[in-house]
Amino acid sequence: MITNPFLDPKQHRDLYGRTTRLARRTGALMRAKISGRPVPEAIVRSLTDHRGEGAPPLGLVVDIGCGRGTTTRALAEQLRPTRLIGIDLAPALLADARERAGRQRGVRTDFVQADFHQLPLASGSAGSVVAAFCLYHSPRPERALAEIARVLAVDGLAVLVTKSLDSYREMDALVAGAGLDLRAEEHESLYTAAHSGNLAGLTDTCLEVIKTEHEEHRFTFDGLDHAAEYLATNPKYHLAPGLYGNPGALAKALHEALPEQSITTSSVITYVVARHRGGRP
Ligand SMILES: C[S@@+](CC[C@H](N)C(=O)[O-])C[C@H]1O[C@@H](n2cnc3c(N)ncnc32)[C@H](O)[C@@H]1O
Repeated sequence: MITNPFLDPKQHRDLYGRTTRLARRTGALMRAKISGRPVPEAIVRSLTDHRGEGAPPLGLVVDIGCGRGTTTRALAEQLRPTRLIGIDLAPALLADARERAGRQRGVRTDFVQADFHQLPLASGSAGSVVAAFCLYHSPRPERALAEIARVLAVDGLAVLVTKSLDSYREMDALVAGAGLDLRAEEHESLYTAAHSGNLAGLTDTCLEVIKTEHEEHRFTFDGLDHAAEYLATNPKYHLAPGLYGNPGALAKALHEALPEQSITTSSVITYVVARHRGGRP
């Protein structure tokens, strides 16, 4: 039995079959954020810094596990490659990404449904590949990384992004303290497959790691209602029926158990920049 919901293919539809959970989760986290660079901008910055001045214009850029296309959009607006492809397994998220992409003159953008363990791209075809917050959904992240290495051009760059195993652990304590899941602090991290501590090592099996950067992001939820918006999207807790996916009911349960309070928590975001093993010396 698979106990980590992020690694259970049967739960993929529940997590990403509709846009609601991801949009609510991102919204609650972004409203709570008090420090840390916006991730799409940091990805763009990594690519421009490592490509260096005078680099030829970017051809194909691929955003793997693109979700609702937030990073894809930043890549289009700020890098202006000739072609951009967002790849994801979830049709509902791809539809949202298409709608949010807008029109970038000169940047041909396509969103394609595919599994990142088997990319529908020719070997050596991509100038840059980005994979943000998605490799921890893979039971075989080495396989997904090998696919990224295969499609990357010899002078191409990959930016891979994940978070630390102990991300948002103060929220686990809150859930346990409220008696909503007494074992909340004991559940396996959602990010075990590809996290801040192992992503560079996994990448090193097929690409040359140029840089690994860790940045702490801090979040303050201004009260229990705000915390409930995030907690209702977290599949790792074993909550009473009717609480998961229902921020109103979860907020009520928190208020019944705890005094009103703000909650500060953190997550380390890790950026691994890598190039093809046959790249420049
Ligand atoms: C947390 S979201 C991240 C979305 C986006 N990269 C971002 O940073 O906002 C994870 C995404 O990975 C996608 N995903 C999970 N497993 C996948 C697979 N095997 N192939 C392609 N996409 C996958 C999910 O559908 C989801 O859109």
